[in-house]
Amino acid sequence: MNVILLGAPGSGKGTMAEILVKEKHLVHIATGDIFRFNIKQQTELGKEAKSYIDQGLLVPDAVTIKMVKDRLQKDDVKQGFLLDGFPRSLSQAEALTKMLSELDLKLDFVLAIDVPEEQIVERLAGRRVCLDCGASYHIVSKQPKDAGVCDNCHGAVVQREDDKAETVLKRLHTYHEQTQPLLAYYEPLNLLRHLDNSGDYQSSYTALREILADFD
Ligand code: AP5
Repeated sequence: MNVILLGAPGSGKGTMAEILVKEKHLVHIATGDIFRFNIKQQTELGKEAKSYIDQGLLVPDAVTIKMVKDRLQKDDVKQGFLLDGFPRSLSQAEALTKMLSELDLKLDFVLAIDVPEEQIVERLAGRRVCLDCGASYHIVSKQPKDAGVCDNCHGAVVQREDDKAETVLKRLHTYHEQTQPLLAYYEPLNLLRHLDNSGDYQSSYTALREILADFD
């Protein structure tokens, strides 16, 4: 199964990805995670990406498209992949369509995650993430068992730099301008499936499993 996750910052792409990866054994390709890994390792890619991420802007297409193209050529992708955070612009979507055709890979569906904006701002303000494995928590709705310590790997659980209020607003603006138009790109291809993630985790997981059942 090959899937794209499409949604605003904080809509729950990472949260839904956990289920999809576990239940469908998909290779998880999250461009934000790849950038954060490179920032942590202080690579050239990381230094370039950081300057954009800190401002709530997209990393330039040329950099991002090449990075995803390299990743999609690895053998493990044949078991099924989940693209989380890519594509995010019309030119990325067009480049992806071209690369999938060259690699003889086909998309099964694009999962569009819907959440009202006020809820997104609240969720991101309370989100905390593990510095080591990237697991996501929330100060109210999903706390780690020990405060500040990741349940999975015991790494430090902290606020992401780009989750500060001003950057969140900028990221949302970038989303509306550059990423939301992708809904209109995928709609006529009959690939879109909508998931309402405005309720609690359980109701969203149930809705996701109902969508997945159509592809069994
Ligand atoms: P990226 O890491 O992809 O960030 P994002 O799209 O802004 O998404 P987030 O990771 O913030 O949120 P999410 O949708 O995964 O939500 P989550 O599941 O954590 O990208 C970061 C940056 O990298 C970008 O801004 C850009 O600069 C750059 N970048 C990345 N890809 C790029 C690309 N293709 N091109 C160019 N630049 C790129 O959920 C959020 C919170 O809500 C969590 O606390 C969670 O626990 C909680 N939550 C989720 N669901 C529920 C629920 N049902 N009930 C209660 N709480 C919930």
